[in-house]
Amino acid sequence: MTEGIYQTPRIKIGNPVRLECIECGSKFKIHERFYTCPKCGGLFEIKIDLDEVAEKLDRRRLKAEPPSVWKYRAFMPILDDSKIITLQEGGTPLYRCDRLAREVGVRELHVKYEGANPTGSFKDRGMTVGVTKALEFGLRTVACASTGNTSASLAAYAAKAGLRCVVLLPEGKVAAGKLAQAMMYDAQIIAIEGNFDQALALVRRLCDERRDIYLLNSVNPFRPQGQKSIGFEIADQLGWEPPDRVVVPMGNCANIWAIYKGFFEFDAVGLTKGIPKMTGIQAEGAKPIVDAIKRGLKKFVPVKNPETIATAIRIGNPVSGPKALRAIRASKGTAEAVSDEEIIEAQKSLAKLEGIGVEPASASAIAGLKKLVEQGAVERDERVVCIATGNVLKDPEEVMRISRPPVKVPASYEAIIKQLGK
Ligand code: F0G
Repeated sequence: MTEGIYQTPRIKIGNPVRLECIECGSKFKIHERFYTCPKCGGLFEIKIDLDEVAEKLDRRRLKAEPPSVWKYRAFMPILDDSKIITLQEGGTPLYRCDRLAREVGVRELHVKYEGANPTGSFKDRGMTVGVTKALEFGLRTVACASTGNTSASLAAYAAKAGLRCVVLLPEGKVAAGKLAQAMMYDAQIIAIEGNFDQALALVRRLCDERRDIYLLNSVNPFRPQGQKSIGFEIADQLGWEPPDRVVVPMGNCANIWAIYKGFFEFDAVGLTKGIPKMTGIQAEGAKPIVDAIKRGLKKFVPVKNPETIATAIRIGNPVSGPKALRAIRASKGTAEAVSDEEIIEAQKSLAKLEGIGVEPASASAIAGLKKLVEQGAVERDERVVCIATGNVLKDPEEVMRISRPPVKVPASYEAIIKQLGK
């Protein structure tokens, strides 16, 4: 076990985990290295034996320890604890935001600040599990396509594990902070002349043909297992009472499903009761899932040339879209799209009213909530949690563009007084 990991003894779950296709229901052993179902191409979910977890759960300890991803070890499909790679992810603040709640128009609003993770986004929760699985499978190279955050996170965890890291990025479309991180962690960065959807198709082919390279996009079934800890932590931080609604920005669409799974599993083992209405937000220029929800479609129609200021969610063909549709429908949630202007306004409100700095994609959750309240689709007396997925420093260029610039004055006291005004 790596230093810094949650150290108290934890429940050993034997081997009660399996891969199960969400489309055709085929089941496979957890040791099999599939990304999608070999029978029908469907996405996998990981089933853990929740009865066994419930039986062995040390509820007193769980309630006494502060939140972190590995506090919930019992729910993680890891076979060998000695392989765990952690940068002490999770345990992020859940801020109660009364000033923002008044502006948005809901009774109680909390923001889960995922920008406080080691590389500044929620991706670290998935990568601690994903990179650990790479070691369990005995692989030495990991890869992903990314709009930026996934690559920053994978590069950091690969560095910690001593693995080679290859990332495919859409050239010229990744925010500066994210690119700088992947460079600093020494990933092999390949900038493709195309968009994220094309980069993902290429890296999937690469990892299918080169079996020595482990794919760590969220089509990998293990990554959402770490991300479900967002749901665990929210319930934990709200005194084991899930909120009425959780609002999540959607890009490739694994996170909303992962959070749903967290609430589902806590409910199943009797730690909490009920599942919040999962509410997904996309940008107007990249909203295939919103369209499918609004039109009641079973399958979503990909968007050809996605466009938005929120580059993190500039995705037209979300690989985990089918999971997002399931999470939203099963929890009686909804989905909405927001414009770039609405995103920027929400980003500013979050910063000015609450001191929370986020990148544009994260602000889409606040913008979407505001829109849904105005439409009457969200009740004003709800208790809502918005997921602020990434840190403001991820996209400094956008911040400089939309914020009040510094004013240059001579180095004199008089000039400062004059500038200050009243
Ligand atoms: N917010 C941020 C800041 C993101 O970076 C992403 C996804 C999302 C929201 C959407 O999450 O894909 O699970 O629906 N970023 C990916 C990346 C695509 O490559 O960093 P999702």
